[in-house]
Amino acid sequence: MKKIRHFLNLDELSKKDIHEIVSKSHILKKNYGKTSLKRKKILAMIFEKPSTRTRVSFEVGMKKINGEVVILDQNDTQLARGESLSDTIKVLSRYVDIIMYRGSDEKKLYEISKSSNVPIINGLTNQSHPCQIIADLMTLEENFKNINKINLCWLGDGNNVCNSWIHASKHYDFNLNISSPKGFFPKKKVIDKVKKNTIKLYEDPEEAIKGADVLITDTWESMGMKKKKATLKKFEEFQINTSLLKKTNKETFVLHCLPAHRGNEITNNVIDGEHSLVWDEAQNRLYAHQSILFWCLK
Ligand code: CP
Ligand code: NVA
Repeated sequence: MKKIRHFLNLDELSKKDIHEIVSKSHILKKNYGKTSLKRKKILAMIFEKPSTRTRVSFEVGMKKINGEVVILDQNDTQLARGESLSDTIKVLSRYVDIIMYRGSDEKKLYEISKSSNVPIINGLTNQSHPCQIIADLMTLEENFKNINKINLCWLGDGNNVCNSWIHASKHYDFNLNISSPKGFFPKKKVIDKVKKNTIKLYEDPEEAIKGADVLITDTWESMGMKKKKATLKKFEEFQINTSLLKKTNKETFVLHCLPAHRGNEITNNVIDGEHSLVWDEAQNRLYAHQSILFWCLK
């Protein structure tokens, strides 16, 4: 039987596959609107959490390559009345060619990948956001000759997006410094699993950003995760502002997957400033998703 090409987590894909997906994203950008699937395919997207970029870029991206899209918001389906996600997937995989799932606990993602006859794409879970990182890698490749030689620094919450950066680092040689308040670093087992000595943890953000080519941040409160006011206070020194940016002592770019909480993890001056790659990063979701779709449907 042919193996189904699920896109679940970057540490589980091969180096060859990741590099292929990222390179094809550049080609799709260059020839935007000119590349099509040989036969029309249908993508279903299930959203248990809100989305702007993922939803629109998958829909537009799919339509531009001769695909169609069906969107299921949890509350408008029988999922809201207790039908199991696995049963839903069993049925959907008899209707559509590929499914993107945005959910909460990652266990559910792996469960459905077992009950589906068609590829499943991880459109974000509490633990990961691999689609985002494909677009981010592409954005970095647009700005650096060799991204294996650069220094990345993640600032703030060691969340799902940070985990997917850790997963990606398995396939690249960039340095990844992670700086978080005590208690908010990514889980040790996530870091241990990729076995890379290029990942370093810092409690002091000023120490972590020294020599950084890129600073990366994200919300301090991911969807569905609330923090107390006193806890959020601990994050303040991790804010990317002009003063912190100057302390890298070199020209440093900034990434943020969006949505941004301006004034918290990033300031207006930085996100709208000359060092921000944020808007290209958001645009590149389009081509990254098209590339993921091509790879899964191959
Ligand atoms: N970055 C990202 O995934 O954005 P959305 O939540 O809007 O899809
Ligand atoms: N860490 C964020 C990413 C949003 C795209 C969240 O999970 O809410």
